[in-house]
Amino acid sequence: MSAEKTPDSKMMEDLVSLCKRRGFVFPASEIYGGINGFWDYGPLGAQLKNNLRDAWWQDNVLMPPTGPDGDPVSVVGLDSAIIQNPKAWVASGHVGGFNDPMVDCRESKARYRADHLRVVKAVPREGEADAGRMFAFLEGDDAGFERALKKLGKYVKRDLGKGDTEILSFEGLDTQVIPMIVGPEATEPGSLTEPRMFNLMFHSYAGAVQDEDSKVYLRPETAQGIFLNYKNVLDTSRVRVPFGIAQVGKSFRNEVTPRNFIFRSREFEQMELEWFCHPSEARQWFEFWRDHRMNWWKSIGLAGDNLVLRQHDSDELSHYAKAGVGTADVEYRYPFTAPGFGELEGIAHRTDFDLAAHQQHSKAKLEYFDQERNERYLPHVIEPAAGLTRGVLAILCEAYTRDESRASPEIMKFHPRVAPIKAAVFPLVNKDGMPEVAQKLHAELRAKFGRLGMIETDPKQSIGKRYARMDEAGCPVCFTIDGETMTDQSVTARDRDTGAQERVSIEKVSDYVAQKLGV
Ligand code: GAP
Repeated sequence: MSAEKTPDSKMMEDLVSLCKRRGFVFPASEIYGGINGFWDYGPLGAQLKNNLRDAWWQDNVLMPPTGPDGDPVSVVGLDSAIIQNPKAWVASGHVGGFNDPMVDCRESKARYRADHLRVVKAVPREGEADAGRMFAFLEGDDAGFERALKKLGKYVKRDLGKGDTEILSFEGLDTQVIPMIVGPEATEPGSLTEPRMFNLMFHSYAGAVQDEDSKVYLRPETAQGIFLNYKNVLDTSRVRVPFGIAQVGKSFRNEVTPRNFIFRSREFEQMELEWFCHPSEARQWFEFWRDHRMNWWKSIGLAGDNLVLRQHDSDELSHYAKAGVGTADVEYRYPFTAPGFGELEGIAHRTDFDLAAHQQHSKAKLEYFDQERNERYLPHVIEPAAGLTRGVLAILCEAYTRDESRASPEIMKFHPRVAPIKAAVFPLVNKDGMPEVAQKLHAELRAKFGRLGMIETDPKQSIGKRYARMDEAGCPVCFTIDGETMTDQSVTARDRDTGAQERVSIEKVSDYVAQKLGV
């Protein structure tokens, strides 16, 4: 049996199409032509996302990891409002500074982030004048780069060999050069605008009057809701520094160029934990959370070469992280970033930046009195900030497998913990008492495992087609009630990953499922 992965753009196309066909992810408002940057999660996608969210909550809040002292660390949950007092976003720096440089193409009407645009130019040969004209393409878009090279070769009327071209970042270009560039989707030079800063926050108005005073923002990160409630949590629960507050929920960013399926969307979900600690212990906790978070993603099926931990260089650090002990990203090799990697989760030392800013702007006292140290201070924060919807994408990419030796070659090899369907029960044929036995087993499995995910049954179509449907949905195991069941009380158990079948006593099916799911 040959199982092959194809980490390329074809695979991404196939995956997006499977997600649509099987009800994982649909384009939002599809019947109206969709809306760029928004996605809906169908029955399988919603369950997959909930399973990932629940796994994160269970492993960070309900059963948090063991800390360096051998005791479980202390983390509590929170669910804060999406819309907060707009002053909070001024204090956090988002009103003033949450901007992306944006470039418009007047010819194609396309919009790009300046930091994602690259331009290729010809290096003049001896005695040759500078060609002047340059061709833009999007970073990571290999086909776009090839097109730009071809157009450049035609323009300079020579074959471009190694060392004949230079690639420049659009962002750092002298503005006088911009009129000489042909945009990625343009035919003539001069259609790209200079980069303009664009605030990523969506806004609305609270109340009947729509003016500057009633302007409110949809949160661009869940983190600030945690900082706003840090004192409430301290005053009402028994936590003491060091402790964490965790939150899962929607965030909104008016991304200039939403793209790559659900990787960068305008409405998405985050799973964020703010860990409050004494400033002198920040490095130790940063390393603790960085390693824990990396191992956690491995534990739910992203193990292997597709996952890396990358420490940020100092010039990449955000304003709040500059003074800290560092920032690291858990990165995944998505098909559209391969052979490179893209961010899945960032772990940052935010110092006391947020608490200090909120303390200053709100005038509320946010300092903590540490009885053990007999010291008053603003705690420092270590923040593991993960994308829930981006995690769903990484899991979908990792699971997607083609096995051409199977009648239906697409298999979603989800880790059993996140698989939306946990088990399926089929009567081989719709007669001879088989449907009744299947129904009973289905009800038994649902009662035992239904809290973890879907338990399916399906009496229609050939058994091969039903297995294929379950492979595409990523169901780890199927049970078939057949003629033998009626005589010896055994069923066929069929494994998703290998297609192998074995007989199992019907009484032992629950144990079999429990073992398969690791529960
Ligand atoms: N509180 C810190 C913070 O929000 P971030 O790196 O901007 O940091 C954290 O976001 C995570 O949220 C990212 O690693 C990514 O997984 C996810 N994320 C951010 N923007 C996103 C978008 N537009 N679409 C989907 N996921 C996004």
